[in-house]
Amino acid sequence: MIEQFPDTLVSGIRIAQDFNALFNKDNIENIYVSGMGGSGIGAEFVYSFVKDELKIPFAVGKSYDLPAWVNQNTLLILSSYSGNTEETIEVLKKGIHQSAKVVVISSGGTMMRLAIENNLSFVKLPSDWSSPRACLGFSIAAQLGVLFKIGLISEKKWAELLECADFIKTESSQIQEKSKKLAESLFGKMIVIYSSERIEPVALRFRQQINENAKRLCWHHVVPEMNHNELVGWRKSDDELAVLFLLNSDDSDRISQRMDLTKDVVSHFAGSVISLFSKGKNTIERSLYLVHLLDYASVHLAFLNGVDPVEVKVIDFLKSELAAAKD
Ligand code: F6R
Repeated sequence: MIEQFPDTLVSGIRIAQDFNALFNKDNIENIYVSGMGGSGIGAEFVYSFVKDELKIPFAVGKSYDLPAWVNQNTLLILSSYSGNTEETIEVLKKGIHQSAKVVVISSGGTMMRLAIENNLSFVKLPSDWSSPRACLGFSIAAQLGVLFKIGLISEKKWAELLECADFIKTESSQIQEKSKKLAESLFGKMIVIYSSERIEPVALRFRQQINENAKRLCWHHVVPEMNHNELVGWRKSDDELAVLFLLNSDDSDRISQRMDLTKDVVSHFAGSVISLFSKGKNTIERSLYLVHLLDYASVHLAFLNGVDPVEVKVIDFLKSELAAAKD
């Protein structure tokens, strides 16, 4: 599934090209995207890709709540691969109640049914994927496509996503090689991920992939914020800790200096410190290059840990217990 990431970007772009909003596209004053887990992370990427040109506020929600400021002038995007995630369904219902301009992005389920019944705009994703987190390419392309088709972002930005799919394909064999080496150096360690705030979605994605694919705990934080709190927690040597610094060539001088200093401090205490550099000519390429490499690394780690990277039985268990508690 990870191998197909660039193809999912391309087919997601094709699917999104056919999107036509059923609501009046004027007077959109803000954007709210709601989704959980593998279907929520796409929104974090999309915001990080467009914040340099988007003229209106963009917020991401990962719960049952919908802020009171969401109204008829809000573009409300609901992202759920299955269409059956209860938090996102509840936000969809609240969005209808608060008269938002709703777009459902899903492969089916209750959410697609509600979209059709309520004459809402939607993007229908292919329904034959077993893991929502492997559908990140569809999710990013669909959300960015909705923004583009509504006229909220430039054609240049939209074109960058398509170019990125080609870029990742050309880098593929090198990415696979690097990811294997990275997994070997992280194997058996408690992984800590640090990045600049600009590419936090990459750090969060790797954290989630380590959890779901490699079945391990891990944590992440971002510079500069962690310089003001977490850094103080580095006082005790622990050989079990492996710290991965995700470095981005467009980090400002100040952020790079902070990263270097943070690395110096942390290296006194952690078992190992590894730096991974992004590659690419814009934020989209740099972020998704790292995502692809780190997604592969999470699967290599799963194999090294002797676990099945696909199963997420405990999530399914929780969802079914919650459904039963409702009846
Ligand atoms: C499973 C996964 C989960 C789901 C989440 C929400 O691969 O990554 O994080 O994405 O439980 O489910 P959906 O995506 O169906 O709304």
